[in-house]
Amino acid sequence: MAERLALFATTARGTEELLADELKELGARRIRQDRGGVRFMASLDEALKVCLWSRIAMRVLYPLGEFEARGAEGLYEAVASVPWEEHLTPETTFAVEATLKDSEHSHTGFVALKVKDAVVDRMRDKRGARPDVDPRNPDVRVVAHLVREKLSLSLDLCGEPLHRRGYRVRPTAAPMKETLAAALLRAAGYTGEEALVDPMCGSGTVLIEGGLIARRRAPGIARDFAVEKWPHLGARARELLEDMRADARRHERKVAVPILGFDKDPEALEAARRNVKAARLSEEIVLSEGDATKLPPLPEPPGLLLTNPPYGDRLGSGGQKGMKSFYFKLGDSLRAQKGWRLFVLSGNEAFESAFHARPSSRRQLWNGPIECTLLGYRPFYVRPGSSEAPLGAPQQPVDVAPVRPEDEGEE
Ligand SMILES: C[S@@+](CC[C@H](N)C(=O)[O-])C[C@H]1O[C@@H](n2cnc3c(N)ncnc32)[C@H](O)[C@@H]1O
Repeated sequence: MAERLALFATTARGTEELLADELKELGARRIRQDRGGVRFMASLDEALKVCLWSRIAMRVLYPLGEFEARGAEGLYEAVASVPWEEHLTPETTFAVEATLKDSEHSHTGFVALKVKDAVVDRMRDKRGARPDVDPRNPDVRVVAHLVREKLSLSLDLCGEPLHRRGYRVRPTAAPMKETLAAALLRAAGYTGEEALVDPMCGSGTVLIEGGLIARRRAPGIARDFAVEKWPHLGARARELLEDMRADARRHERKVAVPILGFDKDPEALEAARRNVKAARLSEEIVLSEGDATKLPPLPEPPGLLLTNPPYGDRLGSGGQKGMKSFYFKLGDSLRAQKGWRLFVLSGNEAFESAFHARPSSRRQLWNGPIECTLLGYRPFYVRPGSSEAPLGAPQQPVDVAPVRPEDEGEE
């Protein structure tokens, strides 16, 4: 295996630029954004640092090659041409994960099976024995991605995707992926030096990711990575990671800013409490039952409000008219938090006008299959004499004349 690895880190669509910035900070080189991910070069220790420290990447893949693969036979031949004996031994367990797009094959299971057969046959041919398949906890995960007749084969350095930090012990109705929450915090410029509030915190993902940033805690500190079990790199990877984990623990610091979460649903709050506890952030994050449309005054700014309100489809909202009215009240409540920066991830196109304020930034991204917009708002009001005058912001809380949803015609 080469000294310097050519790798591909996957991420939610729309967050590629944020991941590229993060990878640069982590020491990656020759960074190139692609759709749904970022290509980069890294030595083994730099690659492990990405696994341990990337807050945004979902997977870190080691691409083995791209092939024309026509029909079942072509697929088999393409896979069998890869020198699997350089990556596996007969004692290594492995699993194949297949994804398809516009492919002549309709079943991922069939493609995974063909890939497995080709790997096994090649190993038997070259090493005289075959490795076993372990779908649950394999030593090596092979990722096969087939777009039309173009097959990409990779090995996954991480194993379980990186959003599985290990702290989500109680899910809720519409949780956000941990990696997406971290991407939003980066987009909002959150570094852990200012207060953080999520007024509709659900299972607490934004707060926990913010807490990890403020604590300077490595997001992957509580988990291990598949590469540690690879036959040829595993021993070296374990050694390097042991040092990196110890170093990461030494450099954690106390959180000096308030991190507060509210939700009106007691079940969501209970989930958040459990998740916060599992993330070992119970001392840093304070959760309370509360209605975001009647938010109490928050601590002194500087502070960041970051939230994703219900979009209306999954959470039972009383229709689009009800959502508009809710967003309108939310606008009144959040704009009253003077001097606080605000970022809202919305998947409902009615949000922006109903919220009745003009965003200063806008980023399209995907929350799973839902296309969303991350809207950024400058602080709505500057305290008299404050040195933190936001760039060109009006001195009045409202910068767009509000139109009550009730005044608008029926949908
Ligand atoms: C899309 S979910 C947030 C998911 C969250 N980011 C997570 O990762 O779990 C929206 C949340 O808003 C909460 N919510 C809805 N209306 C609210 C209100 N008026 N005040 C406070 N919370 C509210 C819901 O209970 C739900 O937990």
